[in-house]
Amino acid sequence: MNILQINASIQGENSHSTHIANDITTRLRALHPDAKLTLRDVGSEPLPVLDPSALAALFTPADKRTPEQAARAAQYDVPIAELQAADVLVLGVPMYNLAIPVQLKGWIDAISRAGVTFRYTATGPEGLLTGKKVYVGFSRGGFYRDTPLDTQTPYLKVILGFLGMTDVQFVYGEGFAMGDEAVRKAEAEVRTQIEALKG
Ligand SMILES: Cc1cc2nc3c(=O)[nH]c(=O)nc-3n(C[C@H](O)[C@H](O)[C@H](O)COP(=O)(O)O)c2cc1C
Repeated sequence: MNILQINASIQGENSHSTHIANDITTRLRALHPDAKLTLRDVGSEPLPVLDPSALAALFTPADKRTPEQAARAAQYDVPIAELQAADVLVLGVPMYNLAIPVQLKGWIDAISRAGVTFRYTATGPEGLLTGKKVYVGFSRGGFYRDTPLDTQTPYLKVILGFLGMTDVQFVYGEGFAMGDEAVRKAEAEVRTQIEALKG
């Protein structure tokens, strides 16, 4: 079993979402001791933002690319290959300004490629990244779960589903900006959710 863990926090060692994602992965590895882990930290090493030169490189057939375009396209080919090889995806997702971090959006932009990770058919789009299990570990300063202000859960459900990943389980860490007691409570609730994961 191959696990791909994506960390998206910009808070390094102090990141709650990275701790949650690490704990999810630890739990999965306890359940599947042979699992191999690939780690990508887009918070500290963001992928280059899609821009006109990136699109020009990606829309040029591989055998017609300049060396610069080949290098540019490869920056996005690598994260796609990592995801294609994964059986399980673990995302560490902080809430920044009511949304997912721009660095995670950059990873999503990198791995969403028509004809490769999804395709358009006569009956509509079809995700090609099927058969994967996804775990999302959220960390939030406040409380948003099951409210209209939680933009993260519906967006991730939609985009992951669009790409074929429909088996998604969410772990919520909420209240990290609400004082020490709230942090302890959040950590305990996260622990309970992770211990309940069946892998
Ligand atoms: C730039 C920034 C924006 C934030 N915006 C929000 C927000 O909109 N709502 C919220 O509840 N907490 C917000 N927070 C608090 C974070 O959600 C909280 O610190 C969480 O633990 C972040 O995850 P991380 O520790 O993995 O980075 C924000 C924090 C930062 C640094």
